[in-house]
This record gives sequence, structure tokens and C-alpha cells, in this order.
Amino acid sequence: MNKRQIKVSPSILAARFDRLGEEVRAVDAAGADYIHLDVMDGHFVPNISFGPSVIKSLRSCSDKIFDVHLMIAPVDPFIGAFADAGANIITAHVEAGPHTHRTIQAIKHAGCKAGLALNPGTPAEAIEPLIDDLDLVLVMTVNPGFGGQSFIESVLRKVTRVREMIDRSGRDIDLEVDGGINPSTAARCVAAGANVLVAGTAIFGGDPSHYAAEIDALRG
Ligand code: DX5
Ligand code: ZN
Repeated sequence: MNKRQIKVSPSILAARFDRLGEEVRAVDAAGADYIHLDVMDGHFVPNISFGPSVIKSLRSCSDKIFDVHLMIAPVDPFIGAFADAGANIITAHVEAGPHTHRTIQAIKHAGCKAGLALNPGTPAEAIEPLIDDLDLVLVMTVNPGFGGQSFIESVLRKVTRVREMIDRSGRDIDLEVDGGINPSTAARCVAAGANVLVAGTAIFGGDPSHYAAEIDALRG
């Protein structure tokens, strides 16, 4: 895949929370394609992050695509709030409930692009019946809940399988990977078929003056 076709979605979970607006402006200026916003509820995952009001406050800091990753259950009652807050893509987990088709329809009805995420232990086949309705598939390369974890190598096989499914569908669907992404793991994910790289620690771990270089290094 051409370097320019690889999109980088910095996860602000690793940014400085006392200056989130500045951090979003900084990664926007540094060449981010999307801004990845990790929403955690302390129930679906063992951590709590932030909700729609924080996302709404950040909306004025960037015109980039807001890529909202919902690690919450239930999902459906909150879709409207995240759409109103300025989400462009809303991704829910297939493990978050039994009615994923309804969730996807609700996300689209709210005017957003729709994604489904797969935990490391969930097979690629879980999204197959819904592939024609999806704009994005998020393959988790760590167990969701925390930044700074180590990449799970065995998930690469699933990235390949999802890429095959997307190619068979003939539709323009993003294949995003999230968790433990650094220049080395990014290259392996891209080789397996990913085209959107989420990275928290690898970008926000250093000084803001390095954000552009860190983003560029992920593209390979
Ligand atoms: C984990 C989140 C990730 C996380 C990635 O549950 O979905 O987006 O912020 O962080 P790093 O890049 O530090 O693994
Ligand atoms: Zn995420």
C-alpha cells in the first residue's frame, strides 16, 4: 500500500488531559488524518475515560474526522449524544450486545459512518454478515481498556482475514488497527492489510515538537 494511503488516527487517551484542546490542535497540525477518541464506561472495559461533552468541547479544535471508539455497553442509548457531539465515525464493539445490526443502522441514521470493532478473542467471521453495511472494521491488537499495552502478534492473521473480506465486498471500508502500534508493528499491520493506524503512546509519548515525525514514522 502506498504510504500516502495509510491514515494515522492519534488516540488522545495518551495525550495530556490538562491540555486536551492543545493536544488535538497539535496532532491536527502534525498531519493526523483522523482523531481517535476512546470512550470507556468502566463496565464493558475496566476503565473510565470521557464522554460526549468532552468530545463536543474538542470539536472546535480540529476539522479532522472524529473517529469515536465506543468501549461501552449498552451502546444504542448513547449514539445520538455522540453524533451531536461531532463524531464522524462511530465504532461499536461486536461484543457489546446481541443487536449489532440495529446499532449499525442507528449510527447511520444519526448521520455518521459506522464501524464495528473486534476484541483479540473474537473471530473475523463475527462481522461477515454485516460487512456490506460497514464503513470501518477495527481490529483490536490489544485487549481494550488501556493505552500503553503490548501488541498481540497473533491478531495479524485476523487482519489478513478481514482484508480478504473487505476486498471481496468490493466496498471502500477502512481496516483500522488499535493497540500497541509503533513503527515496527504498524509495518506488519499494513503488510497484513490495515490502512488506518491508531496510536496513542507512540505519538503522545514524546514532546509535541516530535508529533509530526512520530506520525510520519508510522506511515513507514
Ligand atoms: C485501548 C484503546 C486504544 C489506546 C491505544 O483500549 O482503544 O485506542 O489508546 O493506545 P496505545 O497506542 O498506547 O496502545
Ligand atoms: Zn481505541
